[in-house]
Amino acid sequence: TKSQAWSALFSEPMSDLVKRYTASVFFDKRLWLADITGSLAHAEMLAAQGIIAAADREAIERGMAQIRQEIESGSFEWKLDLEDVHLNIEARLTQLVGDAGKRLHTGRSRNDQVATDVRLWLRGEIDLITTLLDDLQNALVDVAEQNVDVILPGFTHLQVAQPVSFAHHLLAYVEMFARDAERLGDVRRRTNRLPLGSAALAGTTYPLDRERVARTLGMVDEQGVAQVCQNSLDAVSDRDFAIEFSAAASLIMVHISRFSEELIVWMSQNFGFIKIADRFTTGSSIMPQKKNPDVPELARGKTGRVVGHLMGLITLMKGQPLAYNKDNQEDKEPLFDTVDTLKDTLRIFAEMVGGQVNPATGAKEGGITVNAVAMEEAAKRGYATATDLADYLVKKGLPFRDAHETVAHAVKAATAHACDLSELPLAVLQGFHPSIEKDVYDCLSLQGSLHARNTLGGTAPTQVRQQLARHRARLG
Ligand code: ARG
Repeated sequence: TKSQAWSALFSEPMSDLVKRYTASVFFDKRLWLADITGSLAHAEMLAAQGIIAAADREAIERGMAQIRQEIESGSFEWKLDLEDVHLNIEARLTQLVGDAGKRLHTGRSRNDQVATDVRLWLRGEIDLITTLLDDLQNALVDVAEQNVDVILPGFTHLQVAQPVSFAHHLLAYVEMFARDAERLGDVRRRTNRLPLGSAALAGTTYPLDRERVARTLGMVDEQGVAQVCQNSLDAVSDRDFAIEFSAAASLIMVHISRFSEELIVWMSQNFGFIKIADRFTTGSSIMPQKKNPDVPELARGKTGRVVGHLMGLITLMKGQPLAYNKDNQEDKEPLFDTVDTLKDTLRIFAEMVGGQVNPATGAKEGGITVNAVAMEEAAKRGYATATDLADYLVKKGLPFRDAHETVAHAVKAATAHACDLSELPLAVLQGFHPSIEKDVYDCLSLQGSLHARNTLGGTAPTQVRQQLARHRARLG
């Protein structure tokens, strides 16, 4: 039984309920590779420091190689009685190699072991997620490149505001995801530090070389300097790196969620701006005409789940005195679910936006389909060039506030005639102000309006092409 696993001190065994309540093996077994990697680095250092014999180290390596093979092939027997991934692997090691297995835990505690495992595992996931973020950015840039001259209404308050290039609109999300990747880089830097060697909480009496272990595990900065947690109490107990990651993940999902909302709106019959491929939609069991945007809707919904995990993790930490407390075992499920949700969402969005490669042609197919005509018509319906007319009058010498008021009258008239400003005859426009001439129609066109916004970061195609080139160079 489990109480026998560590001590003769216990006078009664755990009940099945308590066993199940305290065990974590059924979810933390996912950390097995990080656990073995950490153990091997620890054993290597113990031998190099003369704390265990070289033969013990070799036996540990041999045993771990077999355990690895057993886990990968699915034959490893995970035992609830052994509580967690760490005790399961250690027990099997001892079964396989005897006393050498029992020496592995010298100068180590599960407290510094688990903190190391989670950091190692998360570091790998951060790298994967960063690649997936790149894929999504590339997909957005691909679609943007095809749509620099496609104009849709830009909105504020979801009311038509000014014409913008569809590429410009998509590149706004590229900016968000680029910052998200940058944020993950910061989180990675603070995650990639070594707790091992802190032992249970106070350090250990053995002459460990923690820097050596850090270097073996790749826990080094850009200059190759070993990154070791400098306070043993802090090292074993804080999970701020997980909380930070969770915050970064939440922001990624929030950006995905905003984008989802737009895709859903753009797909509705009242907009008709885009289509997404059928494989990302589902039908209705009653309404035969339906194609529902389930994927973006679920992404919007799953954002709540990821943000919820952030709340869970940060709340988990708040009442804990130094140093390690078992509360921290609760960090894993939210973290794992965050990583899974995020990775699936990013993968599915990259494909939904950019399509997938057709092996026959090598070209990407099945991404977003753009209805440029519907977008332009929507921009015209909403007087998106009203600001341009005001700017035109300012150039003719009117103070901006007066120009603003003059254009308001023109919009009112156009609304009464159910036409766009560009469709009002010159004589009618001149009725609002005598300085209006024939060239006014240049600024009232969607294209004219777009090209006029030629400031850095603006929507003019020249600017958008520069941004596209910058993103291409950055993403490589
Ligand atoms: N399963 C534990 C966790 O996830 C490992 C550390 C347990 N340490 C202890 N002293 N009980 O945090």
